[in-house]
Amino acid sequence: MNALRRMLAPLRRSMVGKRRFPAVREEWPVSPAVDTAALTAAFTETFGAAPTGVWRAPGRVNLMGEHTDYNDGLVLPMALPWGVSLALAPASGGAVEVRSAQRPGETARFSTAELDPEHPAVTGWVGYVAGVFWAAREAGHLSPGTGARILLDSDLPVGAALSSSAAVECAALLALSEACGLDELSGDRAAMARIAHRAENDFVGAPTGIMDQSASLRCREGHALFLDCRSAGARTIALPLQKAGLRLLLIDTRVRHRLSDPEGGYAARRAECERAARQAGVGSLRDIDDLAEALGRIKDPVLAARVRHVVTEIHRVNAAVGLIRAGALPELGPVFTASHLSLRDQFEVSCPELDLAVETAVGAGVRGARMTGGGFGGTAIALVAEERLEGVRQAVAEAFAKRGWAAPGFREALPSAGARRLA
Ligand code: GLA
Repeated sequence: MNALRRMLAPLRRSMVGKRRFPAVREEWPVSPAVDTAALTAAFTETFGAAPTGVWRAPGRVNLMGEHTDYNDGLVLPMALPWGVSLALAPASGGAVEVRSAQRPGETARFSTAELDPEHPAVTGWVGYVAGVFWAAREAGHLSPGTGARILLDSDLPVGAALSSSAAVECAALLALSEACGLDELSGDRAAMARIAHRAENDFVGAPTGIMDQSASLRCREGHALFLDCRSAGARTIALPLQKAGLRLLLIDTRVRHRLSDPEGGYAARRAECERAARQAGVGSLRDIDDLAEALGRIKDPVLAARVRHVVTEIHRVNAAVGLIRAGALPELGPVFTASHLSLRDQFEVSCPELDLAVETAVGAGVRGARMTGGGFGGTAIALVAEERLEGVRQAVAEAFAKRGWAAPGFREALPSAGARRLA
C-alpha cells in the first residue's frame, strides 16, 4: 500500500490525529494486510462519495505448464498473496473515471459508448479496465449506460510475469459484476475468466492464453489450480508447502517484458505453434498423442522444437499433479528444472538473467527451479528446503552482482485466495 500512502499524503496531513498509517514497508510479507479502510477513505476523498465495496484479485505464479494454455493444454498455477485492490461505485450515463494509487494526480476518463477495439481511444493500463467494460457488454452482461468510479491500488510489480494485468481485469470485472448485481455472471468464475481474457486479447490486443485470468478468479487459498484450458474444467489441489518444510522462492530478475507487442516473442511463439499444429495435421498441439509421429511430419526444426516443448510440458503438468497428490512435494523439483531446460532450449523464451537465476539456485541446492510465465524476462521460481532459503538468496544475489546486473528481488509465496470481495 506504499503508493496508496503517497497518494493519501495530502489527505493524511488533513487527517492528522484521526488516522495513523503504518511505517513504509520494504519487505514483501508472505501475508500482506490489505488496508481496505485506507482505500475506502481515499476513494471517498477522491470522488466525494463512498464506494459500494472493495474487491481484490491476486496475481499468479505458474508452477507448471508454460505456453500450453493457448495450445488447449494443461496448466498448474497458484494465486499469489499480492494483487490489485479496487474500490468501485457504479455511475450512470456510461461514464467511467479511473484512478490508481500508483499514478497519483492522474484521472483517466472514458465513456463506455466510445469503446471500440478497432479504434482504441483508451490505451495504456486503463485499457485493461476499459477492455473489461467492453467485453462484459459484448457478452451481453452489461448495459451500455453502466459506468463506474474506480480507485485501484496494486502491490504487484508490472512486467514481472506475475499477471499484474490479469489482476486489474479480474478485480474490475468482479467488482463490476457484484456492485451492479450481474448475478448470472458473478456466480460463474469460468465465464468471468472468459470475459477478462477477451478484454486482454480483443481489446488490449495481447494474444495471451486463459491461464492468468482463470488463476486470479478460480484459485483457492492453500491450493494450486489444475486447469484444462480446452474444457475450462478445473480442480483445486492442496499444496501444503510449509508442512513439507518447503518454500517457493520467487526471484525477480528485474528484466521487464511486454506480451502485447505484436512483433514480440510471445506473439511469434503463438503463431509458430499454430503453424506447427497445421503441419502436424491436428487442431491444436494438445491433440498430439504420438510425439515421434508428429515430429515426422514437421520439416522445420524450429517448429519441431516448439512442439517438443509443448507436448512434454503438458506431460510435466500431469507429472506435477501426480506428485503433489502423492504427497511427494520435494520430487517436484526435477520436474521444475526439466521444464526450464525445455523452455530455454526448445521453446527459446528464457533469457540470460532467468538462466543465471535458475542455474545458481540449482547449484545452491534447491529442489528445482524454472522460469515462470511468458518468459523473455520476469520471474524465476525455486522450490527450496526451508533451511536452504537464505543461502540460495545469497548465492543468486552474488551471481547477479558479479555480472554487474541489477540486484534481483526475492519474495516467498504461499498459495493464496482467488479474487474476492474484501469490504
Ligand atoms: C503469459 C500469458 C499466459 C501464458 C503464459 C505462458 O503469462 O498471459 O496466457 O501463455 O504467458 O505460459
